[in-house]
Amino acid sequence: MKYLIISGNPKKDGLCDSIMQEVIRGAKEGGAEVSVLSTQDIPRCHICGEGWGSCISSHICAFGNDGFTEAQKQVASADAYCIITPVYWGEVSESLKAFIDRLRRCEATKQWSREAGAVKSAFAGKQALLVASPGGSGNGALSCLQQMERFCQHTGAAIFDHIGINRWNHNYKAKAAYEAAKAMAAGRTVGTTV
Ligand SMILES: Cc1cc2nc3c(=O)[nH]c(=O)nc-3n(C[C@H](O)[C@H](O)[C@H](O)COP(=O)(O)O)c2cc1C
Repeated sequence: MKYLIISGNPKKDGLCDSIMQEVIRGAKEGGAEVSVLSTQDIPRCHICGEGWGSCISSHICAFGNDGFTEAQKQVASADAYCIITPVYWGEVSESLKAFIDRLRRCEATKQWSREAGAVKSAFAGKQALLVASPGGSGNGALSCLQQMERFCQHTGAAIFDHIGINRWNHNYKAKAAYEAAKAMAAGRTVGTTV
């Protein structure tokens, strides 16, 4: 199984990166092939026309040759996801927000068609682990996770878990991140009782 980490973290070291390493370790341990998609260099949506562009009809961004379409394909080819971000202003990082905003225009809109044989969202029926790491104050994890949850609701991803990690709970939440990724990679489905 292919496990993709969609990361809004601009930092190489630090709290958020240390958690991502645990997710990578867990997913590998569970048998997955793991890759990381950094959202750092992907530009934001151009907001075509009066709000919608080709995203609503062809589900491809008209400006996708800036790296977005390649990233969209990488997302589609994965079987399960971890979406991870530092908490900025109680929200996901700006780069992650820009990426998921753009991605949901292309993926959520696939679900609106009632035609038989219509294409499905890349996320439909796939699991996502949501991880938010607040820093200084420790505030904002809930609102940040809620933002990511909304993205999953729009695109049809099944949420495996919401994990908020700060400086005080790092030692035990890092274990939770590792275990969650391992369980997902090993094929535990949402709702399975263990
Ligand atoms: C622009 C900006 C806004 C931030 N806003 C918050 C915040 O709302 N709450 C919080 O606890 N930490 C906040 N932080 C701190 C980050 O969440 C912190 O960097 C994060 O825990 C990740 O840790 P790391 O940078 O060591 O990876 C902010 C940092 C930046 C750069």
